[in-house]
Amino acid sequence: MPDNEEIIRLEEVFKIFGPQPRGRAFDLAKAGVHKNEVQKQSGHVVGLSDVSFSVKKGEIFVVMGLSGSGKSTAIRTVNKLHDVTSGQVLVDGVDVQQLEGKELQAFRREKMGMVFQHFALFPHRNVIDNVSYGLKVQKVNRSERDAAAMRALQLVGLQPYADNVPSQLSGGMQQRVGLARALASDPDILLMDEAFSALDPLIRRQMQDELMAIQSEVHKTILFITHDLNEALRIGDRVCIMKDGVVVQIGTPEEILTQPATGYVAEFVQDVDQGRVIKVEEVMVPAEPIHIETAFDQALAALNESAERLVVDDSGKCVGLLTRSDLERVAKQGTQSLQSAVRTDVPVADPSQTLNELYAEAGRGLPIACCDENGLLIGRIDPTAVLEELGRVEALSDAFEREVYM
Ligand SMILES: Nc1ncnc2c1ncn2[C@@H]1O[C@H](COP(=O)(O)OP(=O)(O)O)[C@@H](O)[C@H]1O
Ligand SMILES: [Mg+2]
Repeated sequence: MPDNEEIIRLEEVFKIFGPQPRGRAFDLAKAGVHKNEVQKQSGHVVGLSDVSFSVKKGEIFVVMGLSGSGKSTAIRTVNKLHDVTSGQVLVDGVDVQQLEGKELQAFRREKMGMVFQHFALFPHRNVIDNVSYGLKVQKVNRSERDAAAMRALQLVGLQPYADNVPSQLSGGMQQRVGLARALASDPDILLMDEAFSALDPLIRRQMQDELMAIQSEVHKTILFITHDLNEALRIGDRVCIMKDGVVVQIGTPEEILTQPATGYVAEFVQDVDQGRVIKVEEVMVPAEPIHIETAFDQALAALNESAERLVVDDSGKCVGLLTRSDLERVAKQGTQSLQSAVRTDVPVADPSQTLNELYAEAGRGLPIACCDENGLLIGRIDPTAVLEELGRVEALSDAFEREVYM
């Protein structure tokens, strides 16, 4: 099937909340009146106003907007958790609004998996049973559903935890169980509503990376909702920006960044340009430091795994950086002293700093220590991560400048 085939389409969809959704509020919304004004005049809330977009098979389509802009309402029309006031929702050629009862249930189960910000895992069931639950409901036999669940767990890297219960897993891991559950029935479509929004920035980025890696294996169609523009630009093949119930712009991340359709979008992307809003805490990874009093040969062994390690003292403060070459040099001199091998000129960053501030430091090629206000080591940043992240943004702004000035 051609890649350009669309699998989800919303066409001129309106959704009005209130006792008389097709009354005056609808007329006002149709006339293009802003949702605040509609609310003032009619007491009804405009969820969606003339929303049209189509999602192509195999793409990650991200709907991005501030809270209340209609993102959840939009995704909920796709699985008919919401009826629409007017307009059409097509999924794989099927007019979703026409589905009822068992037919609707079966359609949801077979066609789509859903992951939400806060979804409930069954606390007393183990991970594999949580993942295979949907298949159990579909009366798939035990061995088949266990096999499917294990495949899904493997995709999200949680195979070793199949027999654990959810409370034994971290928040990020629980969210991966949710993703595995959605993948278990091998649906064509994944609906993800703020699926990563409750996670710490660090875990969140890992999840974004993982989702992209999984996607390159499974080639689903993913409708992904977020209020975070960075997340949208990072994972989206195309991004749809919503505001107050209407679609403001649809485009590739490049188009959104370089040709913002309105002042609203421009304002949003202004911060992204130059890597200004990418925070250190979003790129930092666990520091995995070694202690300053580690035995020399242990330190040497540790440095066989990675070329350099940050060094902490008893209180967890970062006291320097140890590189394999420094350690080997000291060993050759026959001193076997860790202290004399540690360099103290380590670049240090604050987690709330932004990446572009680290550009010069990153250029030195040394890992950057991320410390809190008391000097305690809380993470590290690899210089390549900074350069990669800024490189991506720079490539976009370069393209923009070429377009504008040449
Ligand atoms: N069930 C509902 N009843 C009334 N108003 C609702 C309901 N669901 C959503 N809304 C309103 O619709 C608008 C869009 O909400 P929503 O789609 O949840 O936004 P988002 O997901 O972008 O934060 C908001 O103004 C919200 O208050
Ligand atoms: Mg929402």
